[in-house]
Amino acid sequence: MPVITTIADLKRLHKRRTPKMFYDYAESGSWTEQTFRENTSDFDQIRFKQRVAVDMTNRNTASQMIGQNVAMPVALAPVGLTGMQCADGEIKAARAAEKFGVPFTLSTMSICSIEDVAENTTNPFWFQVYTLKDDDFMKRLFDRARAAKCSAIVITLDLQIMGQRHKDLKNGLSAPPKFTAASIADLATKWGWGIEMLQTRRRFFGNIVGHAQGVTDPSSLASWIAEAFDHALDWDRVAQLMKMWDGPVILKGIMDADDARKAAELGADAIIVSNHGGRQLDGALSSIRALPAIMDAVGDKVEVHLDSGIRSGQDVLKALAMGAKGTYIGRAFVNGLGAMGEKGVTSALEVIHKELDLTMALCGRRDVNTLDKDILLIPQGFEGQWQ
Ligand code: GLV
Repeated sequence: MPVITTIADLKRLHKRRTPKMFYDYAESGSWTEQTFRENTSDFDQIRFKQRVAVDMTNRNTASQMIGQNVAMPVALAPVGLTGMQCADGEIKAARAAEKFGVPFTLSTMSICSIEDVAENTTNPFWFQVYTLKDDDFMKRLFDRARAAKCSAIVITLDLQIMGQRHKDLKNGLSAPPKFTAASIADLATKWGWGIEMLQTRRRFFGNIVGHAQGVTDPSSLASWIAEAFDHALDWDRVAQLMKMWDGPVILKGIMDADDARKAAELGADAIIVSNHGGRQLDGALSSIRALPAIMDAVGDKVEVHLDSGIRSGQDVLKALAMGAKGTYIGRAFVNGLGAMGEKGVTSALEVIHKELDLTMALCGRRDVNTLDKDILLIPQGFEGQWQ
């Protein structure tokens, strides 16, 4: 068993074990990948203030996200094709999350279906939806999520059309993988992954295949997005969807203060400052740089969460100190899953928790619920001066 001390350790193992097309799917941003890179490098620009001779006993990382108790304010983000990183991946990730005491968010583009995850876990999970044209499909999806006792939905607002990720096109991404000379050569070196995959029946988009009509290639994410997603989405439609669900709602993909105000006005339980992990609008600001303006606009009106770029507990601490009430990890848990299945996700959560807890202590603080910017050194002009 390798000694895992960082998310980067898990990432190396993930790359070794998982077919290239799925590893690349997770590790890509759109176009030049500028936003993808800056999501992490901007976190690195923020430093901590070292404090000494401060009592660091009885530390606490437990908190709440949308009123639900969490062992630390770090949820697993919705990630498409998680069940292709490792057989039954969504079930394994959800189990690791529930044992750790953090929320798991199931993507609509998952391999394991809502029902699969509900049957194999005990805690309610969150369910992520896109905004689709087909009202019947949306209603059925909400009914299925209700039947599965999902405790919140996360509506993704920044993916009506898909940002281009070059590697997915070049790799011919599909679930399950189509057999080409390149994919066969790659799969031949990933036999551990292949053996597990042959032992599960969950190899297709479980929430879509057999549920959505008129999808011409159900193995292709890109073709489903092109055919089914609602290009006419506006705030009235968002309000309609929130009413259709009639339960806790988190709106994801907010990068602008006006959009944040609108989301707060609609009564969202939380918003997620997110640029979709740099996978949509390349050239957008990193989410950590966008956070201060959004806190100023709506910090006292709605719970603000942040995703995109978090690879360590130190990143979590920075986001919390800047005002976020919750954070999400996507790639960081997928690295764990691809590396070692459920154990790997647990390991990713342990790494993040330890980094969060120890860094907080070294900054002279004991409770994640009482953090503020005083523990940080934020470079002047961090948010940028844009016209
Ligand atoms: C799906 O949301 C993706 O980013 O691929």
